[in-house]
Amino acid sequence: MTILVTGGAGFIGSNFVLDWLRASDEPVINLDKLTYAGNRQNLTSLDGDARHTFVHGDFGDAALVDQLLATHQPRAVLNFAAESHVDRSISGPGEFIQTNIVGTFNLLEAVRAYWGGLEATSKAAFRFLHVSTDEVYGSLSKTDPAFTEVHRYEPNSPYSASKAASDHLVRAYHHTYGLPVLTTNCSNNYGPFHFPEKLIPLMIVNAQAGKALPVYGDGQQIRDWLYVTDHCSAIRRVLEAGRLGEVYNVGGWNEKPNLEIVHTVCALLDELKPRSDGKPYQDQITYVTDRPGHDRRYAIDARKLEIELGWTPAETFETGIRKTVQWYLDNPDWVANVLSGGYRDWVAQQYGN
Ligand code: NAD
Ligand code: DAU
Repeated sequence: MTILVTGGAGFIGSNFVLDWLRASDEPVINLDKLTYAGNRQNLTSLDGDARHTFVHGDFGDAALVDQLLATHQPRAVLNFAAESHVDRSISGPGEFIQTNIVGTFNLLEAVRAYWGGLEATSKAAFRFLHVSTDEVYGSLSKTDPAFTEVHRYEPNSPYSASKAASDHLVRAYHHTYGLPVLTTNCSNNYGPFHFPEKLIPLMIVNAQAGKALPVYGDGQQIRDWLYVTDHCSAIRRVLEAGRLGEVYNVGGWNEKPNLEIVHTVCALLDELKPRSDGKPYQDQITYVTDRPGHDRRYAIDARKLEIELGWTPAETFETGIRKTVQWYLDNPDWVANVLSGGYRDWVAQQYGN
């Protein structure tokens, strides 16, 4: 058996592929366009591993996806590919519409045709798992209960609106065509291979470079943090036992204001790699203009996944954030390649043409 993963060179996708092949021998076909967010270097530990096939291409390219499905006959397609950064969606929403909505639509069409042609047993066993976000539910006040799976969709950024649209398409393909879909809506992830445009890796990288640590607005916006391998284990569990057509929220009950996150990162760096002048990294914190339309609070109610499928996260925030800071300190080459843009030439350098 084989699975096909889209976006498997990005942050969560690459962690998922590495995690999957640590836990099982089932081969992975990894289709990724290698946008600025895709980094082939995340997967070098799989070089020469016959269980991993990397395909450089667009998940919205119907001919390519048709050919991959026909050749490899996967028992499941897991869709991680997306434009994922809220700030980029504000400055340039077009790419988000194209990738997250049109791309997902094209993928669904290719998968529907493939699934429709399978023989009965394979057809019954097939799954399409769509990886989505808690941002589709909008913003909570301090006292609102956490998002459940039946919370109304109220996306507030072009990113979250495009993800909401993709979730609706996935739902519609189940209800209209019977496609066996599963959707996960997860809270903020952190961990290895996180691109340093997002809060936690940006703070780790900027702190060490002696740069400002830009906190948007008053820094009291709340996010609900989950270590990335816990997201991966949740996806594996939903793929294995999730009920068809259902949505599962994924989160670790770790709500924290942004400023607390930045202070925690600074304190860990003070301990693990103190500044040469002996001053604390938090001296680098700078308050900057807030993100337009900035959601105030996200919080995930993960009880459905916990009770129905028995999933629980393995990491606490304290263990996960320590591992994360340590990973960035232990991988200066990865960081340098990302900062210099050299990671974009990685394929040519490493593998020739
Ligand atoms: P990312 O930006 O790090 O990676 C996205 C990957 O998709 C990249 O490798 C990129 O090259 C690839 N990609 C983009 N367009 C493509 C296309 N047209 N065809 C093939 N590949 C393409 O994103 P991430 O943070 O790893 O997020 C992965 C998924 O999880 C996304 O769908 C995102 O919405 C969702 N999600 C992310 C978080 C989070 O905190 N990062 C939380 C919940 C859900
Ligand atoms: O909730 C899940 C979502 O989490 C995912 O769907 C998105 O793909 C992912 O990018 C993430 O979205 P956020 O907007 O929450 O993540 P980001 O790291 O961009 O920002 C986290 C918080 O920190 C947010 O409130 C904005 C703030 N922030 C961010 C940056 C980059 C700052 O204060 N300063 C910064 O420099």
